[in-house]
Amino acid sequence: MKRMGSLILVLALAALCVACGSTSAQPSTTQETMDAAPPETSEPAPEAEASAEEALEAHEQPEENANAVLVVYFSATGTTRGVAEKIASLTGADLVEIVPTQPYTDEDLNYSDRTTRATVEQNTPDARPEIANEISLDGYTTVFLGYPLWWGQAPRIMSAFVENHDFMGITILPFCTSGSSDIGQSDDTLAGQAGSGTWLQGRRFSGSASDDELLAWIDDAA
Ligand SMILES: Cc1cc2nc3c(=O)[nH]c(=O)nc-3n(C[C@H](O)[C@H](O)[C@H](O)COP(=O)(O)O)c2cc1C
Repeated sequence: MKRMGSLILVLALAALCVACGSTSAQPSTTQETMDAAPPETSEPAPEAEASAEEALEAHEQPEENANAVLVVYFSATGTTRGVAEKIASLTGADLVEIVPTQPYTDEDLNYSDRTTRATVEQNTPDARPEIANEISLDGYTTVFLGYPLWWGQAPRIMSAFVENHDFMGITILPFCTSGSSDIGQSDDTLAGQAGSGTWLQGRRFSGSASDDELLAWIDDAA
């Protein structure tokens, strides 16, 4: 009942935002033409060059979790960040970024070369890249969990996050961004690794997901 209450709260806040004429101001991604495989070129987004320290400062979690809803996300090139910010804005949720201790460089993300970091991590199921920031789930009853899809799965840093947090009493709504691939089993994999919490069906979005699209998903999930 408590979880349902939280989702109802999310929807009420979302409806309020829509009624107030809230519109999207997020940039759209340029990767929408991607087919089933990753894009052939990966232009660095400015965010990819930000240091872990800058990212930590930019997305400090509020000290007191006054809000029952939290959006947690990892984003290497900014696409998932855009969707996460939009969800937080639509729902009035708190927002926090999972910051890797070792930021991903363009070369790390070059999936054309199978020997580069991100691809090697995805090919190493027990790889657990270190997270630089402490993220507390205390007081939250609903968590939106966002990530880019890397070779059909969530980046291994997401596994590190879910394995180190207790989701007991929390409803989780996973979401991902990708060039074109669907969320697949990536949300189920994370749910299994977390081992606790109520995991709802996840959803893949493009970087240009509209408010209506996001609200429809939240509505369906409730
Ligand atoms: C290593 C790597 C693997 C990827 N694998 C896929 C994939 O399997 N399917 C897909 O559609 N997109 C894939 N992509 C593209 C990303 O999912 C997409 O660009 C995503 O929106 C990036 O999110 P971000 O900007 O938040 O990091 C891959 C990208 C990288 C760097």
